[in-house]
Amino acid sequence: MSRLVVVSNRVSVPKGRGAAGAQGGLAVALGSALRESRGVWFGWSGEETDHFTGDMNMQRNDGVTTATIDLEPQDVEEYYNGYANRTLWPLFHSRIDLAEYKTDFGRGYERVNERFAETLFPLTEVDDLIWVHDYHLFPLGERLRRRGAKNRIGFFLHIPWPPRNLFVSLPYHERLVRTVLEYDLIGFQDEESLENFELYCQKELGLEIGEDHCLDYEGRHVCLRAFPIGIDFDEFMEGGKSKQAKEAERRIRESSRGRSVIIGVDRLDYSKGLPERFDAVGRFFDTYPERVTKTLYVQIAPPSRQDVVSYQRIRETLEQKAGQINGAQSEVDLVPIRYVNRGYARRELFGFYRASRIGLVTPLRDGMNLVAKEYVAAQDPEDPGVLVLSQFAGAASQLPSALIVNPHSEESICEALVQAQDMPLEERKQRWSELMESVRANDVEFWRKSFVEALVGDAAQPKGD
Ligand code: G6P
Repeated sequence: MSRLVVVSNRVSVPKGRGAAGAQGGLAVALGSALRESRGVWFGWSGEETDHFTGDMNMQRNDGVTTATIDLEPQDVEEYYNGYANRTLWPLFHSRIDLAEYKTDFGRGYERVNERFAETLFPLTEVDDLIWVHDYHLFPLGERLRRRGAKNRIGFFLHIPWPPRNLFVSLPYHERLVRTVLEYDLIGFQDEESLENFELYCQKELGLEIGEDHCLDYEGRHVCLRAFPIGIDFDEFMEGGKSKQAKEAERRIRESSRGRSVIIGVDRLDYSKGLPERFDAVGRFFDTYPERVTKTLYVQIAPPSRQDVVSYQRIRETLEQKAGQINGAQSEVDLVPIRYVNRGYARRELFGFYRASRIGLVTPLRDGMNLVAKEYVAAQDPEDPGVLVLSQFAGAASQLPSALIVNPHSEESICEALVQAQDMPLEERKQRWSELMESVRANDVEFWRKSFVEALVGDAAQPKGD
Protein backbone atom coordinates (compact mmCIF):
# COMPACT_ATOMS: atom_id res chain seq x y z
CA MET A 1 0.00 0.00 0.00
CA SER A 2 1.34 3.43 -0.92
CA ARG A 3 1.90 5.98 1.78
CA LEU A 4 -0.58 8.85 1.88
CA VAL A 5 0.85 12.36 2.03
CA VAL A 6 -1.82 14.90 2.84
CA VAL A 7 -1.12 18.59 2.34
CA SER A 8 -3.25 21.46 3.57
CA ASN A 9 -2.67 24.98 4.75
CA ARG A 10 -4.05 24.20 8.16
CA VAL A 11 -2.64 21.15 9.89
CA SER A 12 -4.42 21.20 13.21
CA VAL A 13 -5.58 23.87 15.59
CA PRO A 14 -2.44 25.97 15.81
CA LYS A 15 -1.42 27.96 18.84
CA GLY A 16 0.13 30.84 16.94
CA ARG A 17 -1.07 34.01 15.32
CA GLY A 18 -2.85 32.15 12.55
CA ALA A 19 -5.00 30.44 15.14
CA ALA A 20 -8.65 30.98 14.48
CA GLY A 21 -9.90 29.62 17.76
CA ALA A 22 -12.22 27.61 15.58
CA GLN A 23 -11.45 24.33 13.97
CA GLY A 24 -13.02 24.24 10.52
CA GLY A 25 -14.38 21.10 8.90
CA LEU A 26 -11.13 20.46 7.05
CA ALA A 27 -8.91 20.00 10.09
CA VAL A 28 -11.43 17.75 11.80
CA ALA A 29 -11.99 15.58 8.73
CA LEU A 30 -8.34 15.24 7.78
CA GLY A 31 -7.27 14.36 11.30
CA SER A 32 -9.77 11.51 11.19
CA ALA A 33 -8.91 10.39 7.67
CA LEU A 34 -5.21 10.27 8.45
CA ARG A 35 -5.53 8.25 11.62
CA GLU A 36 -6.86 5.47 9.39
CA SER A 37 -3.80 5.33 7.15
CA ARG A 38 -0.04 5.28 7.50
CA GLY A 39 0.34 8.87 6.47
CA VAL A 40 2.00 12.21 6.81
CA TRP A 41 0.21 15.53 7.10
CA PHE A 42 2.16 18.52 5.82
CA GLY A 43 1.30 22.21 6.10
CA TRP A 44 1.74 25.55 7.84
CA SER A 45 2.25 25.52 11.59
CA GLY A 46 0.20 28.68 12.08
CA GLU A 47 3.41 30.28 13.41
CA GLU A 48 5.56 33.06 11.98
CA THR A 49 9.32 33.35 11.57
CA ASP A 50 11.44 36.35 10.54
CA HIS A 51 13.07 34.45 7.69
CA PHE A 52 11.70 31.42 5.94
CA THR A 53 14.10 28.52 6.44
CA GLY A 54 12.06 25.55 5.27
CA ASP A 55 12.86 23.81 8.57
CA MET A 56 10.21 21.27 9.37
CA ASN A 57 8.80 20.41 12.73
CA MET A 58 7.93 16.70 12.66
CA GLN A 59 5.66 15.28 15.33
CA ARG A 60 3.67 12.16 15.93
CA ASN A 61 0.38 12.73 17.73
CA ASP A 62 -2.59 10.48 18.03
CA GLY A 63 -1.38 8.14 15.27
CA VAL A 64 -0.69 10.92 12.77
CA THR A 65 2.73 12.24 11.70
CA THR A 66 2.63 15.96 11.06
CA ALA A 67 5.33 18.01 9.35
CA THR A 68 4.87 21.75 9.63
CA ILE A 69 6.72 24.84 8.48
CA ASP A 70 6.62 28.42 9.74
CA LEU A 71 5.93 31.30 7.35
CA GLU A 72 7.18 34.89 7.22
CA PRO A 73 4.79 37.69 8.27
CA GLN A 74 4.64 38.90 4.66
CA ASP A 75 3.63 35.38 3.55
CA VAL A 76 0.87 35.24 6.12
CA GLU A 77 -0.38 38.65 5.05
CA GLU A 78 -0.30 38.12 1.30
CA TYR A 79 -0.99 34.41 0.99
CA TYR A 80 -3.26 33.53 3.94
CA ASN A 81 -5.00 36.77 4.88
CA GLY A 82 -4.62 38.09 1.32
CA TYR A 83 -5.11 35.84 -1.68
CA ALA A 84 -6.66 32.91 0.18
CA ASN A 85 -9.02 34.80 2.46
CA ARG A 86 -9.57 38.19 0.82
CA THR A 87 -9.62 37.04 -2.81
CA LEU A 88 -10.48 33.38 -3.25
CA TRP A 89 -12.68 32.76 -0.19
CA PRO A 90 -15.18 35.57 -0.94
CA LEU A 91 -15.16 34.86 -4.68
CA PHE A 92 -15.72 31.13 -4.20
CA HIS A 93 -18.58 31.90 -1.81
CA SER A 94 -20.15 34.15 -4.46
CA ARG A 95 -19.29 37.38 -2.59
CA ILE A 96 -17.46 39.22 -5.34
CA ASP A 97 -18.38 42.45 -3.57
CA LEU A 98 -15.86 41.44 -0.88
CA ALA A 99 -13.21 39.96 -3.17
CA GLU A 100 -10.01 42.02 -3.42
CA TYR A 101 -7.78 41.59 -6.43
CA LYS A 102 -4.28 42.76 -5.54
CA THR A 103 -1.08 41.89 -7.36
CA ASP A 104 0.86 41.47 -4.09
CA PHE A 105 -1.64 38.88 -2.89
CA GLY A 106 -1.19 36.88 -6.09
CA ARG A 107 2.60 37.02 -5.78
CA GLY A 108 2.52 35.97 -2.14
CA TYR A 109 0.23 33.07 -3.02
CA GLU A 110 2.62 31.83 -5.73
CA ARG A 111 5.60 32.29 -3.41
CA VAL A 112 4.11 30.29 -0.57
CA ASN A 113 2.98 27.50 -2.88
CA GLU A 114 6.54 27.37 -4.17
CA ARG A 115 7.80 27.22 -0.57
CA PHE A 116 5.45 24.37 0.18
CA ALA A 117 6.68 22.50 -2.93
CA GLU A 118 10.34 23.15 -2.16
CA THR A 119 10.02 21.77 1.39
CA LEU A 120 7.62 18.96 0.65
CA PHE A 121 9.23 17.49 -2.47
CA PRO A 122 12.34 16.04 -0.76
CA LEU A 123 10.07 14.42 1.82
CA THR A 124 8.11 12.44 -0.74
CA GLU A 125 8.86 9.00 -2.11
CA VAL A 126 8.13 7.96 -5.69
CA ASP A 127 5.13 5.82 -4.90
CA ASP A 128 3.50 8.12 -2.33
CA LEU A 129 -0.02 9.21 -3.06
CA ILE A 130 -0.15 12.96 -2.62
CA TRP A 131 -3.47 14.50 -1.67
CA VAL A 132 -3.63 18.32 -1.64
CA HIS A 133 -6.48 20.15 0.05
CA ASP A 134 -8.35 23.36 -0.46
CA TYR A 135 -8.12 26.74 -2.08
CA HIS A 136 -4.88 27.82 -0.43
CA LEU A 137 -2.94 25.32 -2.49
CA PHE A 138 -4.35 25.15 -6.02
CA PRO A 139 -0.91 25.59 -7.68
CA LEU A 140 0.95 23.10 -5.48
CA GLY A 141 0.49 20.11 -7.80
CA GLU A 142 1.95 22.00 -10.71
CA ARG A 143 4.85 23.19 -8.54
CA LEU A 144 5.62 19.64 -7.49
CA ARG A 145 5.45 18.44 -11.11
CA ARG A 146 7.93 21.15 -12.11
CA ARG A 147 10.32 19.66 -9.60
CA GLY A 148 9.87 16.27 -11.22
CA ALA A 149 7.15 14.64 -9.10
CA LYS A 150 5.70 11.71 -11.05
CA ASN A 151 3.40 10.66 -8.21
CA ARG A 152 -0.31 10.42 -8.46
CA ILE A 153 -1.47 13.74 -7.07
CA GLY A 154 -5.08 14.44 -6.16
CA PHE A 155 -6.79 17.65 -5.09
CA PHE A 156 -9.91 18.12 -3.01
CA LEU A 157 -11.74 21.44 -2.74
CA HIS A 158 -13.58 21.86 0.57
CA ILE A 159 -15.43 24.98 -0.51
CA PRO A 160 -17.81 25.51 -3.46
CA TRP A 161 -16.46 26.09 -6.97
CA PRO A 162 -18.24 29.26 -8.14
CA PRO A 163 -20.36 29.69 -11.28
CA ARG A 164 -18.41 30.61 -14.40
CA ASN A 165 -19.77 34.17 -14.70
CA LEU A 166 -18.41 35.00 -11.22
CA PHE A 167 -15.19 33.05 -11.51
CA VAL A 168 -14.10 34.94 -14.64
CA SER A 169 -13.89 38.14 -12.55
CA LEU A 170 -10.66 36.73 -11.09
CA PRO A 171 -7.63 38.14 -12.89
CA TYR A 172 -5.58 35.27 -14.35
CA HIS A 173 -8.45 32.85 -13.84
CA GLU A 174 -7.27 30.76 -16.76
CA ARG A 175 -3.81 30.36 -15.28
CA LEU A 176 -5.30 29.19 -12.01
CA VAL A 177 -7.47 26.55 -13.68
CA ARG A 178 -4.60 25.33 -15.81
CA THR A 179 -2.58 24.69 -12.65
CA VAL A 180 -5.53 22.77 -11.18
CA LEU A 181 -5.57 20.57 -14.27
CA GLU A 182 -2.07 19.35 -13.31
CA TYR A 183 -3.69 17.04 -10.74
CA ASP A 184 -4.70 13.51 -11.69
CA LEU A 185 -7.94 13.68 -9.77
CA ILE A 186 -9.89 16.78 -8.77
CA GLY A 187 -12.59 16.32 -6.14
CA PHE A 188 -15.49 18.63 -5.27
CA GLN A 189 -18.04 18.57 -2.49
CA ASP A 190 -21.07 18.29 -4.75
CA GLU A 191 -22.38 17.99 -8.30
CA GLU A 192 -23.01 21.71 -8.58
CA SER A 193 -19.35 22.60 -8.03
CA LEU A 194 -18.30 19.84 -10.40
CA GLU A 195 -20.65 21.20 -13.08
CA ASN A 196 -19.40 24.76 -12.58
CA PHE A 197 -15.82 23.62 -13.05
CA GLU A 198 -16.66 21.51 -16.10
CA LEU A 199 -18.59 24.33 -17.74
CA TYR A 200 -15.65 26.64 -17.24
CA CYS A 201 -13.26 24.14 -18.83
CA GLN A 202 -15.58 23.59 -21.77
CA LYS A 203 -16.55 27.18 -22.46
CA GLU A 204 -13.41 29.08 -21.55
CA LEU A 205 -10.71 26.56 -22.41
CA GLY A 206 -12.50 24.63 -25.15
CA LEU A 207 -11.75 21.30 -23.46
CA GLU A 208 -13.78 18.18 -24.12
CA ILE A 209 -14.93 16.26 -21.08
CA GLY A 210 -16.11 12.68 -21.37
CA GLU A 211 -19.26 11.21 -19.85
CA ASP A 212 -17.05 9.67 -17.19
CA HIS A 213 -16.03 13.26 -16.20
CA CYS A 214 -12.46 12.72 -17.36
CA LEU A 215 -10.46 14.69 -19.90
CA ASP A 216 -7.15 14.52 -21.66
CA TYR A 217 -5.01 17.46 -20.84
CA GLU A 218 -1.47 18.01 -22.06
CA GLY A 219 -0.86 14.28 -22.46
CA ARG A 220 -2.37 13.29 -19.13
CA HIS A 221 -5.69 11.83 -18.10
CA VAL A 222 -7.46 14.03 -15.52
CA CYS A 223 -10.65 13.02 -13.73
CA LEU A 224 -13.21 15.22 -12.00
CA ARG A 225 -15.62 13.88 -9.39
CA ALA A 226 -17.86 14.85 -6.47
CA PHE A 227 -16.90 13.29 -3.13
CA PRO A 228 -19.19 14.70 -0.42
CA ILE A 229 -17.25 14.83 2.84
CA GLY A 230 -18.65 13.32 6.04
CA ILE A 231 -18.06 13.25 9.77
CA ASP A 232 -16.01 10.74 11.71
CA PHE A 233 -19.15 8.94 12.75
CA ASP A 234 -17.65 6.33 15.09
CA GLU A 235 -15.35 8.75 16.87
CA PHE A 236 -18.11 11.33 17.28
CA MET A 237 -20.56 8.77 18.67
CA GLU A 238 -17.90 7.44 21.03
CA GLY A 239 -17.25 10.99 22.26
CA GLY A 240 -20.97 11.33 22.85
CA LYS A 241 -20.73 8.74 25.61
CA SER A 242 -18.14 10.78 27.48
CA LYS A 243 -18.60 12.62 30.74
CA GLN A 244 -17.89 15.90 28.96
CA ALA A 245 -20.75 15.32 26.51
CA LYS A 246 -23.17 14.37 29.26
CA GLU A 247 -22.17 17.35 31.35
CA ALA A 248 -22.60 19.71 28.39
CA GLU A 249 -26.05 18.29 27.70
CA ARG A 250 -27.02 18.76 31.33
CA ARG A 251 -25.80 22.37 31.34
CA ILE A 252 -28.05 23.31 28.44
CA ARG A 253 -31.05 21.34 29.65
CA GLU A 254 -30.91 22.76 33.17
CA SER A 255 -30.22 26.32 32.22
CA SER A 256 -32.87 26.40 29.47
CA ARG A 257 -35.50 25.60 32.11
CA GLY A 258 -37.83 23.68 29.81
CA ARG A 259 -37.58 26.06 26.87
CA SER A 260 -37.18 24.62 23.39
CA VAL A 261 -33.53 25.18 22.43
CA ILE A 262 -32.43 26.28 18.96
CA ILE A 263 -28.69 25.82 18.42
CA GLY A 264 -26.31 27.28 15.86
CA VAL A 265 -22.58 26.52 15.75
CA ASP A 266 -20.55 28.34 13.12
CA ARG A 267 -17.15 29.91 12.65
CA LEU A 268 -17.70 33.66 12.68
CA ASP A 269 -17.71 33.98 8.91
CA TYR A 270 -19.93 36.02 6.59
CA SER A 271 -20.60 32.92 4.46
CA LYS A 272 -22.50 31.37 7.37
CA GLY A 273 -25.47 33.75 7.06
CA LEU A 274 -25.41 34.80 10.71
CA PRO A 275 -26.83 38.34 10.43
CA GLU A 276 -29.64 36.97 8.24
CA ARG A 277 -30.24 34.23 10.83
CA PHE A 278 -30.35 36.72 13.71
CA ASP A 279 -32.84 38.85 11.75
CA ALA A 280 -35.00 35.80 11.12
CA VAL A 281 -34.94 34.84 14.80
CA GLY A 282 -35.80 38.45 15.71
CA ARG A 283 -38.74 38.28 13.34
CA PHE A 284 -39.80 34.94 14.82
CA PHE A 285 -39.94 36.53 18.28
CA ASP A 286 -41.81 39.59 16.94
CA THR A 287 -44.33 37.49 15.02
CA TYR A 288 -44.93 34.89 17.72
CA PRO A 289 -44.59 36.76 21.04
CA GLU A 290 -46.15 33.79 22.85
CA ARG A 291 -43.11 31.71 21.85
CA VAL A 292 -40.50 34.07 23.31
CA THR A 293 -40.69 32.59 26.79
CA LYS A 294 -40.71 29.08 25.36
CA THR A 295 -37.61 29.41 23.18
CA LEU A 296 -33.89 29.77 23.79
CA TYR A 297 -31.57 30.41 20.85
CA VAL A 298 -27.94 29.51 21.58
CA GLN A 299 -25.46 30.69 18.96
CA ILE A 300 -21.87 29.56 19.34
CA ALA A 301 -19.61 31.53 17.00
CA PRO A 302 -15.86 31.27 17.60
CA PRO A 303 -13.93 34.14 15.98
CA SER A 304 -12.08 33.36 12.77
CA ARG A 305 -9.53 35.17 10.53
CA GLN A 306 -9.55 38.22 12.77
CA ASP A 307 -6.88 40.04 10.72
CA VAL A 308 -9.33 40.42 7.85
CA VAL A 309 -11.61 43.48 7.99
CA SER A 310 -14.75 41.76 6.69
CA TYR A 311 -14.47 39.32 9.62
CA GLN A 312 -14.11 42.15 12.12
CA ARG A 313 -17.21 43.79 10.64
CA ILE A 314 -19.36 40.71 10.85
CA ARG A 315 -18.44 40.42 14.50
CA GLU A 316 -19.57 43.98 15.20
CA THR A 317 -22.80 43.47 13.25
CA LEU A 318 -23.68 40.37 15.23
CA GLU A 319 -22.92 41.93 18.59
CA GLN A 320 -25.32 44.73 17.68
CA LYS A 321 -28.06 42.45 16.45
CA ALA A 322 -27.88 40.08 19.42
CA GLY A 323 -27.97 43.09 21.74
CA GLN A 324 -30.94 44.63 19.95
CA ILE A 325 -33.02 41.46 19.95
CA ASN A 326 -32.24 40.67 23.56
CA GLY A 327 -32.92 44.28 24.53
CA ALA A 328 -36.33 44.11 22.91
CA GLN A 329 -37.33 40.63 24.03
CA SER A 330 -35.73 39.96 27.41
CA GLU A 331 -37.44 39.89 30.77
CA VAL A 332 -35.61 40.45 34.04
CA ASP A 333 -35.33 36.71 34.43
CA LEU A 334 -35.23 35.60 30.81
CA VAL A 335 -32.87 36.26 27.90
CA PRO A 336 -33.89 34.59 24.61
CA ILE A 337 -30.50 34.67 22.82
CA ARG A 338 -27.19 33.43 24.16
CA TYR A 339 -24.47 34.52 21.80
CA VAL A 340 -21.09 32.99 22.63
CA ASN A 341 -17.80 33.93 20.92
CA ARG A 342 -15.72 30.91 21.78
CA GLY A 343 -15.09 27.39 20.58
CA TYR A 344 -16.00 24.19 22.43
CA ALA A 345 -14.59 20.68 22.33
CA ARG A 346 -16.51 18.43 19.94
CA ARG A 347 -17.62 16.24 22.83
CA GLU A 348 -19.26 19.25 24.44
CA LEU A 349 -20.89 20.16 21.16
CA PHE A 350 -22.34 16.65 21.06
CA GLY A 351 -24.06 17.39 24.37
CA PHE A 352 -25.25 20.82 23.23
CA TYR A 353 -26.70 19.35 20.03
CA ARG A 354 -28.44 16.57 21.90
CA ALA A 355 -30.10 19.02 24.27
CA SER A 356 -31.43 21.15 21.38
CA ARG A 357 -34.79 20.66 19.71
CA ILE A 358 -33.65 22.51 16.58
CA GLY A 359 -30.28 22.59 14.78
CA LEU A 360 -30.22 25.82 12.79
CA VAL A 361 -27.71 25.73 9.91
CA THR A 362 -28.31 28.53 7.43
CA PRO A 363 -25.15 29.41 5.48
CA LEU A 364 -25.51 31.58 2.38
CA ARG A 365 -22.92 29.32 0.71
CA ASP A 366 -21.09 26.36 2.18
CA GLY A 367 -19.02 23.59 0.63
CA MET A 368 -20.64 20.92 2.82
CA ASN A 369 -21.24 21.91 6.48
CA LEU A 370 -20.36 19.19 8.94
CA VAL A 371 -22.24 20.85 11.82
CA ALA A 372 -25.47 19.75 10.09
CA LYS A 373 -24.24 16.15 10.07
CA GLU A 374 -22.97 16.26 13.64
CA TYR A 375 -26.27 17.68 14.85
CA VAL A 376 -28.08 14.71 13.29
CA ALA A 377 -25.63 12.18 14.71
CA ALA A 378 -25.99 13.56 18.24
CA GLN A 379 -29.77 13.17 18.48
CA ASP A 380 -31.59 10.82 20.83
CA PRO A 381 -33.36 8.27 18.55
CA GLU A 382 -36.37 8.24 20.91
CA ASP A 383 -36.83 12.00 20.88
CA PRO A 384 -34.81 13.49 18.03
CA GLY A 385 -34.57 17.17 17.20
CA VAL A 386 -35.16 18.78 13.82
CA LEU A 387 -32.48 20.00 11.44
CA VAL A 388 -33.24 23.28 9.65
CA LEU A 389 -30.81 23.50 6.77
CA SER A 390 -29.95 26.05 4.09
CA GLN A 391 -30.55 25.04 0.50
CA PHE A 392 -27.12 26.54 -0.24
CA ALA A 393 -25.08 24.17 1.93
CA GLY A 394 -23.53 21.21 0.10
CA ALA A 395 -25.14 19.07 2.81
CA ALA A 396 -28.64 19.92 1.52
CA SER A 397 -28.43 17.53 -1.41
CA GLN A 398 -27.44 14.74 0.96
CA LEU A 399 -29.95 15.56 3.68
CA PRO A 400 -33.25 16.27 1.92
CA SER A 401 -35.27 15.14 4.96
CA ALA A 402 -34.17 18.24 6.86
CA LEU A 403 -36.41 21.31 6.73
CA ILE A 404 -34.73 23.00 3.81
CA VAL A 405 -34.83 26.82 3.89
CA ASN A 406 -33.75 29.82 1.88
CA PRO A 407 -31.31 31.59 4.25
CA HIS A 408 -32.00 34.95 2.60
CA SER A 409 -35.67 34.78 3.48
CA GLU A 410 -36.72 35.64 7.03
CA GLU A 411 -40.15 34.10 6.31
CA SER A 412 -38.64 30.84 5.16
CA ILE A 413 -36.54 30.49 8.35
CA CYS A 414 -39.42 31.65 10.58
CA GLU A 415 -41.85 29.14 9.09
CA ALA A 416 -39.34 26.34 9.48
CA LEU A 417 -38.80 27.25 13.15
CA VAL A 418 -42.54 27.09 13.81
CA GLN A 419 -42.85 23.82 11.89
CA ALA A 420 -39.91 22.35 13.78
CA GLN A 421 -41.20 23.43 17.20
CA ASP A 422 -44.64 21.98 16.46
CA MET A 423 -43.49 18.82 14.69
CA PRO A 424 -45.06 15.63 16.09
CA LEU A 425 -42.74 12.99 17.49
CA GLU A 426 -43.54 10.48 14.74
CA GLU A 427 -42.54 12.90 11.98
CA ARG A 428 -39.38 13.87 13.84
CA LYS A 429 -38.39 10.23 14.14
CA GLN A 430 -39.13 9.52 10.50
CA ARG A 431 -37.12 12.48 9.21
CA TRP A 432 -34.30 11.82 11.61
CA SER A 433 -33.89 8.16 10.68
CA GLU A 434 -33.63 9.14 7.00
CA LEU A 435 -31.01 11.78 7.84
CA MET A 436 -29.09 9.45 10.10
CA GLU A 437 -28.86 6.78 7.43
CA SER A 438 -27.18 9.22 5.06
CA VAL A 439 -24.84 10.65 7.75
CA ARG A 440 -23.74 7.18 8.81
CA ALA A 441 -23.24 5.82 5.29
CA ASN A 442 -21.38 8.86 3.94
CA ASP A 443 -18.90 9.23 6.78
CA VAL A 444 -15.33 10.49 6.60
CA GLU A 445 -13.97 6.98 6.15
CA PHE A 446 -16.15 6.44 3.09
CA TRP A 447 -15.03 9.80 1.73
CA ARG A 448 -11.34 9.03 2.21
CA LYS A 449 -11.62 5.57 0.72
CA SER A 450 -13.60 6.74 -2.30
CA PHE A 451 -11.11 9.50 -3.02
CA VAL A 452 -8.00 7.39 -2.56
CA GLU A 453 -9.43 4.52 -4.61
CA ALA A 454 -10.33 6.90 -7.41
CA LEU A 455 -6.88 8.45 -7.25
CA VAL A 456 -5.17 5.10 -7.57
CA GLY A 457 -7.68 3.78 -10.11
CA ASP A 458 -7.91 6.74 -12.40
CA ALA A 459 -4.24 7.41 -12.46
CA ALA A 460 -3.56 3.72 -13.07
CA GLN A 461 -4.93 4.03 -16.59
CA PRO A 462 -3.08 6.93 -18.18
CA LYS A 463 -4.19 7.31 -21.74
CA GLY A 464 -1.77 6.27 -24.48
CA ASP A 465 0.72 4.67 -22.06
C1 G6P B 1 -12.95 26.18 5.95
C2 G6P B 1 -11.87 25.91 4.91
C3 G6P B 1 -10.66 25.27 5.56
C4 G6P B 1 -10.21 26.08 6.77
C5 G6P B 1 -11.36 26.31 7.74
C6 G6P B 1 -10.98 27.19 8.94
O1 G6P B 1 -13.50 24.99 6.42
O2 G6P B 1 -12.38 25.08 3.88
O3 G6P B 1 -9.60 25.18 4.64
O4 G6P B 1 -9.15 25.44 7.44
O5 G6P B 1 -12.42 26.92 7.04
O6 G6P B 1 -10.42 28.39 8.50
P1 G6P B 1 -8.93 28.83 8.86
O7 G6P B 1 -8.67 30.03 8.01
O8 G6P B 1 -8.96 29.12 10.31
O9 G6P B 1 -8.03 27.68 8.52
